[in-house]
Amino acid sequence: MGVKIAPSMLSSDFSNLSEAKFMLDCGADWLHMDIMDGHFVPNLTIGAPVIESLRKHTKAYLDCHLMVTNPIDYVEPMGKAGASGFTFHVEVSKELIVRIKSKGMRPGVVLKPGTPIEEVYPLIDSENPVEMVLVMTVEPVFGGQKFIPEMMDKVRALRKKCRSLDIEVDGGLGPSTIDMAASAGANCIVAGSSVFGAPEPAALISLMRKSVSE
Ligand code: DX5
Ligand code: ZN
Repeated sequence: MGVKIAPSMLSSDFSNLSEAKFMLDCGADWLHMDIMDGHFVPNLTIGAPVIESLRKHTKAYLDCHLMVTNPIDYVEPMGKAGASGFTFHVEVSKELIVRIKSKGMRPGVVLKPGTPIEEVYPLIDSENPVEMVLVMTVEPVFGGQKFIPEMMDKVRALRKKCRSLDIEVDGGLGPSTIDMAASAGANCIVAGSSVFGAPEPAALISLMRKSVSE
């Protein structure tokens, strides 16, 4: 399974959304958008208005990671704004998955480092399953934290259970950690500070692709 690289716009200059286009020109597959409400996590970022503005300029897959207390309230506005994926933290009802699909987005569920893998199994085995599981490899809140390798046990267990599922990893990914994640079975790679902090993001993205042993 080839990997998709998703630069996290949390590491971008929020006053310059054209950095999104720049990342796509650098070879990014997806754009990862961290939506934080200042309540579910102690940080406040962006919401549907920014997704809507970006959507006017790009057809790219907007991979939205919702770190919010009431994700259900965000389904309608995010769908209207043009989000592609709607990935929510696991402590939420199944009804949410049906709603996300009805608004034309792909549902995904997120596991914080401390949340056991078993909690997502009902959402994978259900008749309305999630299409992606995001395994956090840092505590959600800021970019630039250190990758937690122990999370690869979760990725391996998930890949064993489901071959076709998108498995995304988020936090501390770069050329030195991507292969650990990809060989465990992750196929969607979020990268914030490593890509945005590189003198040449295009070279860094291509180095990340080359660092995956297949
Ligand atoms: C953290 C966010 C990440 C973050 C990753 O809460 O979910 O998407 O931007 O940044 P790096 O790659 O710098 O760890
Ligand atoms: Zn994220």
